[in-house]
Amino acid sequence: MSNQILKGKNGIIFGALDEKSIAWKVAELSNQEGANLILTNAPIALRMGTINKLSESINAPIIPADATSMDDLTQLYSSALNHFSGKIDFVLHSIGMSVNVRKGKPYYNQNYDWTKKGMDVSAMSFHKTIKAAWDLDALNEYASILGLSYIAAQRVFNSYNDMADNKALLESIARSFGYHYGLKKNVRINTISQSPTLTTAGSGVSGFDGFYRFANDLSPLGNASAEDCAKYCITLFSDYTRKVTMQNLFHDGGFSSMGMSDKVMENYTKSLK
Ligand SMILES: NC(=O)c1ccc[n+]([C@@H]2O[C@H](COP(=O)([O-])OP(=O)(O)OC[C@H]3O[C@@H](n4cnc5c(N)ncnc54)[C@H](O)[C@@H]3O)[C@@H](O)[C@H]2O)c1
Repeated sequence: MSNQILKGKNGIIFGALDEKSIAWKVAELSNQEGANLILTNAPIALRMGTINKLSESINAPIIPADATSMDDLTQLYSSALNHFSGKIDFVLHSIGMSVNVRKGKPYYNQNYDWTKKGMDVSAMSFHKTIKAAWDLDALNEYASILGLSYIAAQRVFNSYNDMADNKALLESIARSFGYHYGLKKNVRINTISQSPTLTTAGSGVSGFDGFYRFANDLSPLGNASAEDCAKYCITLFSDYTRKVTMQNLFHDGGFSSMGMSDKVMENYTKSLK
């Protein structure tokens, strides 16, 4: 059921690791909607994941790039400009990683070298991704850049740890760079704050299952899946959202506006009996 709303647009998708990745679903749907795509990921992820399968199925080349490296990113955009024989209309930054989370260091006892690494990968890379495109003037007018965030940027979710700070920075970069790129070339920059989603990065957070079920029970529409997220991304890449910029957009089944739901209350009361 395609509406071809991205017909003729050129896009770069960062972060498809395996079939569960949000970026994987976004790539599939963008392709169905008529976009020409380039897939990219860190060289190590290309060895560990299954991105080749996606590349074949949607006929999109893979260009490796570590999103923390300006050299890699410049090389990526230069190759993309050649490949498309034209400029780029949308970019998805779907990248996140915290070494402290992976290795179980609590927020109050971080290893600061790991904190720096996580911040570089999860947030600074968003700035670099935008800056590399800016320097090469690689984007078309009204191009759309999207990053993926989580509500821990605004509220405490204990086990999300230093990723909360990384997401707060990511959302701030969307606003700050959104101003400059908007003035320069009407380029839009937004973040989507997505429900907990069953992916490799998601399930790395301790207690993720409880997290996931609680959010599902609290949200009147239930959690948004990776497929749902892909649909929302498509609207934001399209020409129907040309004046949406510098926003953090909640895509969470209503979670962010809730305090208490019947379902959560019922479970909580049950557990007290
Ligand atoms: N899964 C969730 O519950 C959830 C909820 C809200 C937001 N998000 C965000 O969605 C985004 C995508 O995560 P996902 O859940 O699809 O998990 P995922 O593990 O499938 O994707 C994370 C990607 O980041 C890539 N990456 C890591 N380091 C990199 C580097 N140096 N350079 C380039 N790429 C690098 C990985 O290779 C991987 O492809 C992340 O920003 C994540 O924080 C996820």
